[in-house]
Amino acid sequence: MSEAGNWVRVAAVADVAEGSAIPVEVGGRQLAIYHLEGGAIHCTDNICTHAFALLTDGWLEGCLIECPLHAGQFDVRTGAGQGAPIEEDLRTFKVRVEGGDILVDLPD
Ligand code: FES
Repeated sequence: MSEAGNWVRVAAVADVAEGSAIPVEVGGRQLAIYHLEGGAIHCTDNICTHAFALLTDGWLEGCLIECPLHAGQFDVRTGAGQGAPIEEDLRTFKVRVEGGDILVDLPD
């Protein structure tokens, strides 16, 4: 099977407690890695699309991350903004778990 894409190891699954998120920096890009209750792993940009704040400084509740600055929320599975003050969705990245490692497909 072809492994097209640019898969980069960003963390170990064990680094991210279930129900929490951690920041990682890869190639100058700030990413947030989420480990949702139930086990799903997701990755988005970590910088809020509204102004400048790191989403991992905010609060993860279910599949929603709340920005620490103006309480904007995004669905971490799709990046969809959940209303004011968010006007632009968050970029998401494909995630794969392999042998306890979290890999993210990053654009070149
Ligand atoms: S910077 Fe995130 S809601 Fe304003």
